Amino acid sequence: MRVIGLMSGTSYDAIDAAAADLRLVGDGLVLKPLGLVSEAYDWALREALEASLPPGTTSMAEVCRLDTRIGQAFAAAAVRADRELCDGRAELIASHGQTVYHWVDGAEVHGTLQLGQPAWIAEATELPVVADFRPRDITAGGQGAPLVSLVDLLWLRGRPGTPVALNLGGIANLTAPDGSAFDSGPGCALIDAAASGFSGGQLAYDVDGALAGRGSIHEPLLHRLLEEPYYALPAPKTTGKELFHLGHLRDALAGFGTLPAEDVVATLTMLTARTVADAVREVGATEVIASGGGTRNPVLMGMLGQRLPGVALRTSDELGLPAAAKEAYAFAVLGFLTAHGLPGTVPAATGARHARVLGSITPGRAGLRLPPPVLERPVRLVLE
Ligand SMILES: Nc1ncnc2c1ncn2[C@@H]1O[C@H](COP(=O)(O)OP(=O)(O)O)[C@@H](O)[C@H]1O
Ligand SMILES: [Mg+2]
Repeated sequence: MRVIGLMSGTSYDAIDAAAADLRLVGDGLVLKPLGLVSEAYDWALREALEASLPPGTTSMAEVCRLDTRIGQAFAAAAVRADRELCDGRAELIASHGQTVYHWVDGAEVHGTLQLGQPAWIAEATELPVVADFRPRDITAGGQGAPLVSLVDLLWLRGRPGTPVALNLGGIANLTAPDGSAFDSGPGCALIDAAASGFSGGQLAYDVDGALAGRGSIHEPLLHRLLEEPYYALPAPKTTGKELFHLGHLRDALAGFGTLPAEDVVATLTMLTARTVADAVREVGATEVIASGGGTRNPVLMGMLGQRLPGVALRTSDELGLPAAAKEAYAFAVLGFLTAHGLPGTVPAATGARHARVLGSITPGRAGLRLPPPVLERPVRLVLE
């Protein structure tokens, strides 16, 4: 089955559309990557989204507008992926949507909201769309995240040692072979906020780690940032930009006077490296397989490598899944599982009481024709 996975993470930099040919063979799920197209959010939509997210406020009218426009933008990315990667023969779309709020209260998650109305995607592609993956895990007592863990576990199964999958998006998350998975804290979110703040919006992120590379670590600032209680919470735990946004950085900067932008960005890069490395050591990893846009920041990767002596640090590219596309492929897999009536969660990862078949399905042009349900869950993911 040709499936297109659509993803935009907490960085809302772009909509990533990855196409995969997926099939069940014995107890394995075989994934043939067909490629990735990324569509940057148009500037006005990105601005509107950013203004609506915490610490900003919004209205129901704006939520409706965002849901529509994001749905249309996801639809355009899906159409392009179908045409360019699938010769117009895609069969299913799996859309994560854009997270706009993750309602966390201490260790408990009460709700989550992803925008990007799937009807627009179904209308434009004429294909059935699986969307709203996260809420069902929350109703089963889980955190609704990290959902990519199931794919990581299937994929890394059988590798020697203790391989840990790390995604460095806006937020950083890890999956360990025992199924434990959690967000360690910020990935690129605070670095992005600082780069954008200091450049008056000229920079969306610290391109190639250029700012961090010229700066030095401000130890008292690092110390203050590390006082954030989230880091000490036990897993499973999830977080988002509700916590790690520009305001969080501004609070930490209070009283330090004016610091050079380079030093602040270097310190934030170290904050990510340190909190990720601590999390990696905590789960006893012997190998880290990193993905996400943060892998393109050489300063971040360098700091991380330095803090993890004796742990092999690779990117998912080396194992056959392009780092920039991994999460989009993972959602293609989750959509495929839902279409076959298979659960998409690992209770150990999300903290749910039970694994659940995830998502809501919007029928395509031909109504809703799903493959016959499959009863046996695949136990490994094989890349072809
Ligand atoms: N060349 C680069 N140099 C430094 N950072 C980069 C580069 N390319 C991407 N990034 C970082 O990756 C982030 C996007 O990563 P992504 O995996 O798409 O995250 P998300 O899932 O949150 O959208 C950007 O916001 C930026 O911080
Ligand atoms: Mg992104």
